[in-house]
Amino acid sequence: MTQLGFIGLGIMGSRMAANLLKAGFPITVYNRTPAKARALRDAGAGWADTPAALAEQVDVLFTMLATPNIVEAAAFGEHGFLKALRPGSLWVDSSTVNPTFSKRMAAAANQAGLRMLDAPVAGSKIPAENAQLLFLVGGDAADVEACQPYFKVMSRQVIHAGGHGAGSALKMVFNLLLGQSMIAFAEALVLGESLGLDRDLLFTSLTGSAVAAPIATSKRPKIEAGQYEADFPLQWLQKDLELASLTAYEQRVALPVTNVVKEIYQLANRRGLGTLDISAIYAYLHEANPPEH
Ligand SMILES: NC(=O)c1ccc[n+]([C@@H]2O[C@H](COP(=O)([O-])OP(=O)(O)OC[C@H]3O[C@@H](n4cnc5c(N)ncnc54)[C@H](OP(=O)(O)O)[C@@H]3O)[C@@H](O)[C@H]2O)c1
Repeated sequence: MTQLGFIGLGIMGSRMAANLLKAGFPITVYNRTPAKARALRDAGAGWADTPAALAEQVDVLFTMLATPNIVEAAAFGEHGFLKALRPGSLWVDSSTVNPTFSKRMAAAANQAGLRMLDAPVAGSKIPAENAQLLFLVGGDAADVEACQPYFKVMSRQVIHAGGHGAGSALKMVFNLLLGQSMIAFAEALVLGESLGLDRDLLFTSLTGSAVAAPIATSKRPKIEAGQYEADFPLQWLQKDLELASLTAYEQRVALPVTNVVKEIYQLANRRGLGTLDISAIYAYLHEANPPEH
């Protein structure tokens, strides 16, 4: 039976790996912080002490790591998995990274006799838990086909966007919109409240309207409670906008609004909000606009 491996057991990876395990696939996991693997190990997942030790045991390896640099270190660093995978094995990178990076990883994988897909996901903590993610995939059709049984138990839909890098390209586009939608909504709330409009009225009138993104209005409970436990950490959305900006530079495309927005998220990062949910951008803007005396 095909042996699966999963590296990166954060908010998303832990839930995706849990769904693979629940579906009965044999799976071995690795995470920098071993404690996060505890529940999976208790439920029957194997554990490897390093990415390389994991790679020796698997046919299909998923990675769900924070940034391109971290993916690269897991692949090529000390105890990296790339050299340890058996020829013909398939590496599926679900981390949100830039398309150029995905293409470079695919070329390195191919050179090592491996197959690769970039397969980032849309959908956050709850969709990951409920197997309702949307996979955005780049790579060869045969490899996408080979992964369908695994995608199926983690997602509601798979979009094969094109060759290597196309999944990451589509994900860049998704998160450009996400970053802008969230901050636009937060700014609208701040203006409305400064005009004396009740926050409850603002939410009630904007939710379901044509002008507010559903993702932003879905953050109502967090904003009302002032509790921003992360579904999607703000620091990774900032990273995604940074990667969109880099990609636009490579493409010689101008993204004036994205570049301003990414800097505002960076300011929020600098205020220590990076590990909170993306909706904490409201708290940042709210605090930056104290009532006038
Ligand atoms: N959360 C979402 O809604 C969402 C949705 C779609 C896509 N994504 C993307 O999915 C990826 C994972 O996001 P997440 O929300 O699961 O984030 P997370 O909870 O912060 O998990 C990040 C993962 O990366 C590992 N990591 C971080 N820094 C590392 C380092 N220096 N060395 C080794 N490993 C390191 C973490 O290991 P430790 O456990 O040891 O820290 C963890 O496994 C990101 O690319 C993110 O942009 C997230």
